[in-house]
Amino acid sequence: MTVPTHIAIIMDGNGRWATRQGQPRFKGHAQGYRNLRNILKAASDMGVKYLTVYAFSSENFKRPKAEVDFLMSLFAEAAAAELDSLKKENVKVVASGRIDELPAKVRKMFIRDIEETSTNTGIVFNIAVNYGGRNEIVDAARKLAEKAAKGEIKPEDIDEAALSGCMYHPEIPDPDLVIRTSGEIRVSNFLLWEIAYSEFYITDILWPDFNEDELKKAVAAFGGRKRRFGKVSDDE
Ligand code: FPP
Repeated sequence: MTVPTHIAIIMDGNGRWATRQGQPRFKGHAQGYRNLRNILKAASDMGVKYLTVYAFSSENFKRPKAEVDFLMSLFAEAAAAELDSLKKENVKVVASGRIDELPAKVRKMFIRDIEETSTNTGIVFNIAVNYGGRNEIVDAARKLAEKAAKGEIKPEDIDEAALSGCMYHPEIPDPDLVIRTSGEIRVSNFLLWEIAYSEFYITDILWPDFNEDELKKAVAAFGGRKRRFGKVSDDE
């Protein structure tokens, strides 16, 4: 089985999962978190080296305050509760997004997990939080503009590699496979720069129900794809 080096997931459908069971939306997020815990372990066991998850987009701050507050508390509590097992499982935590704009309690907990797992050598778990793909490109452009303003680079030095080098985690290879649950066929401002040649897998399964078997199905589908990166395959 060809296992993708980097899988990125848009974990959609928590709200619908809860509504279908006659429960408030936050129950879906709580179940989504439990599921994420299982999928991180399953991905690591399969040999995936990087797992990026879309936990909270910059646009999600426009949701009702009660839902935003619930998600922020969930992130802070999960980051605190999982630290020991993340260490034990050799997971290296990183985050992508405008982390400095998060509520202090969330920011502190994420930073603690990032620092305390920084020397781990297992799967890299990249949490996209207060993340927007366009914001990431804007932030990278600003970094390059600052260097240019200081005279460290010239405009003609700016190429794809220079811009890639200013993304939130330039050391992480681009995703091989992007999974989106709950059936929507859109990118929703996720990793716009990095998904140029990623394969997509869309499933109607809602995120809380996307279990290890579903992950294996997605990986099997990926294994059947011919990746050409804009070229012609050798056998065509
Ligand atoms: C999208 O479903 C899901 C989110 C906006 C939140 C994702 C968060 C988790 C799965 C918890 C992860 C926890 C940690 C610690 C990273 P939706 O609310 O848009 O669902 P809907 O489309 O059915 O309304």
